[in-house]
Amino acid sequence: MIRSVFAGCGHYLPAQKISNADFLAKHNIDSDSAWIEQRTGITQRHIAGETETTSDMATAAARAALADAKLTPEDIDIIVLATTTADHAFPAAAVRVQANLGMTRGFAFDVQAVCSGFVYALTVADNFIRLGQAKRALVIGAEKFSTLLDWNDRTTSVLFGDGAGAVVLEAREGAGAITDTGILSTHLHSDGRYYKLLQTDDAGFVRMDGKEVFRHAVTNLAEVVDEALAATGLKAEQIDWLVPHQANQRIIDGTGKKLGLPAERVVSTIAQHANTSAASIPLALSTAVHDGRIKRGQIVLLDAMGGGFTWGAVVVRW
Ligand code: UT7
Repeated sequence: MIRSVFAGCGHYLPAQKISNADFLAKHNIDSDSAWIEQRTGITQRHIAGETETTSDMATAAARAALADAKLTPEDIDIIVLATTTADHAFPAAAVRVQANLGMTRGFAFDVQAVCSGFVYALTVADNFIRLGQAKRALVIGAEKFSTLLDWNDRTTSVLFGDGAGAVVLEAREGAGAITDTGILSTHLHSDGRYYKLLQTDDAGFVRMDGKEVFRHAVTNLAEVVDEALAATGLKAEQIDWLVPHQANQRIIDGTGKKLGLPAERVVSTIAQHANTSAASIPLALSTAVHDGRIKRGQIVLLDAMGGGFTWGAVVVRW
């Protein structure tokens, strides 16, 4: 059977890196850096330049992933870009990435599942590959979430950052067994009854009932992680790395504990990146691959939860 194997990964962070204290002072937000760090784990975030777009960041991450895979844009059949903050309402930011890379063949489109976007995009690309409709896919998560923030709302403005991460998936023959390399299983969910708990308002600003989102996140992530283990037959102790969506260190710790994983096997970049929505998982993944933590052959579990609600998990043998 065909498997989607990770041929490479890369990421991009905007040059401007700003600490909690400087960020609060800059935007005159009534909060304090200790509260932010204690309640979320965030100590700083990167913020895109005024003219820097989501497609610019996505292109930089895509180039890094292609270089890591030792491939060129001509090798790619599809681009799937997870984002909530496309440059314009249309066309898709993905087609700009396609043009930036000089690709004139294949096809490119965006996927919108907010913070679960990367898990959704990976699943979509995996299906194209396993059906034989594409040989290689660029899967990107990129966000300029700072454009959605209301500086007068301290319950959301302190939580988010900008950035992009990308992976190259490649079709390779597998045995259909758990020992295969690549994506082993994908699990997606949504429940639109919770639309209003995390959404943009009519002015385009993020509004969130943080406590309720937190409560649902802990439960939904625990369930989808169980579902992923049951589907693959893996035991929690066989997971080498958890690479979760980076929304809150307390949620990340909760999922790690549920799996019985020591903190050293949970990849957390929230302190440096804050919540970058669809970009958070590929940013964390690329960070941990390139600093040598995640090694070939290891089992990696990705999980995410976000607006919609949407949530999901992907099990990978790296
Ligand atoms: O990525 C998509 C999914 N998103 C998430 O998973 C986010 C889930 N939610 C959360 O991470 C947390 O709920 C937050 C970090 C958003 C908030 O943390 P919390 O511990 O749930 O705080 P809270 O909303 O219960 O607020 C506690 C107190 C309140 O004051 P009182 O009523 O106890 O006096 C808030 O007014 O903290 C206050 N507060 C703040 N204080 C300083 C809320 N925001 C701030 C702030 N600075 N920025």
